[in-house]
Amino acid sequence: MAHYLEFDHVSKIYRGGNKAVDDISFTVDQGEFICLIGTSGSGKTTTMRMINRMINPTHGTITLAGKSLADTDPVKLRRKIGYVIQNIGLMPHMTIRDNITIVPKLLKWSDEDREKKAQELLKLVELPADFLDRYPSQLSGGQQQRIGVIRALAAGQDIILMDEPFGALDPITREALQDLVKQLQVEMGKTVIFVTHDMDEALKLSSRIAIMDGGKIIQYGTPNEILRQPANDFVKDLIGHDRLLEAKPNVETVGQIMLKTPVTITPDQSLSSAIKLMRQRRVDTLLVVDDQQLLQGLVDLENIDHHYKDAGTVQDIMSTKVNFVNQTDLVRDTIERILKRGWKYVPVVGDDQRLVGIVTRTALVDVVYDAVWGDDDPDNATD
Ligand SMILES: Nc1ncnc2c1ncn2[C@@H]1O[C@H](COP(=O)(O)OP(=O)(O)O)[C@@H](O)[C@H]1O
Ligand SMILES: [Mg+2]
Repeated sequence: MAHYLEFDHVSKIYRGGNKAVDDISFTVDQGEFICLIGTSGSGKTTTMRMINRMINPTHGTITLAGKSLADTDPVKLRRKIGYVIQNIGLMPHMTIRDNITIVPKLLKWSDEDREKKAQELLKLVELPADFLDRYPSQLSGGQQQRIGVIRALAAGQDIILMDEPFGALDPITREALQDLVKQLQVEMGKTVIFVTHDMDEALKLSSRIAIMDGGKIIQYGTPNEILRQPANDFVKDLIGHDRLLEAKPNVETVGQIMLKTPVTITPDQSLSSAIKLMRQRRVDTLLVVDDQQLLQGLVDLENIDHHYKDAGTVQDIMSTKVNFVNQTDLVRDTIERILKRGWKYVPVVGDDQRLVGIVTRTALVDVVYDAVWGDDDPDNATD
């Protein structure tokens, strides 16, 4: 299946040989929210501007909706693509009404249709109708940027380019606008390409993130993929170690990291078979389950040693006060419980209360360790 937008070995080399964009290939599906993130000078703006042909590639091809951009008329193309940039988004000598409807006017919509659209969009961003007659300077920075956002949506463009649109805003306004853009994008089914250097913003908004460095795409993936499997140290630095530590357990459930083969025994078994089983499987605790796999209790070696002379059954000596977690619990919460209470392990049950696995303290330490220094190649595991 053809992708909506496709970069195929695209480079942009400026005079003097500066490779602003260096052989990048990636695809975007319709309705995606893509963030380009990277340090200053990494090629984000250049990549974005090649999509509306404000910049033409030196090598490679870009395809939009099945058509090579090289074969499209740049002016017509730009009318189909919304563009929002920091600050200078609005024309200072035009009213908000005229600003919002620049593109519809170019597209020769009727006055009536344009007015209707302007009113509809203003309502969408919860600004009063009389704002239409005001000039940009009469609005706050956040309000102006709201207008910038809806202007990009006004002509029904399918694809919207946004170059650090909220970079100059205070954090609260910025967050409100992020929410707005995300909401509109989802509701209206737009495809958005969004440049930022703020990882929080990228993680919050994106369906996929392209991480750029030195004109190359270092990693392209969903926020989860990037958090869980950062491609290299550059990506890890960009994400920040705090966020990694926080994020990895956050996205995982107990069911994803538990050992699925806890060593179990039924209550009617003799203590000598319990000891034999422990020796065989090299564990010092057995989880006791009935024939329905319902967790009944546990026995550990200490208890058995003590009671062994009685030669009874597991039932006689097992402790029935057992802490357990559900397989849908978040690892993050489980970590806290295990570490705080000093448990060595905790049994895991499913929604029907049947035993499905066990989480050991060691496994949890591995998860935390992975998140910070992680190497996802299983061949590197030391065990
Ligand atoms: N018109 C230009 N002429 C020469 N070099 C340019 C031009 N525009 C951008 N560059 C260079 O290309 C590289 C990428 O720039 P840019 O795409 O603006 O990066 P970003 O948006 O990630 O900060 C930078 O090294 C920049 O200096
Ligand atoms: Mg830029």
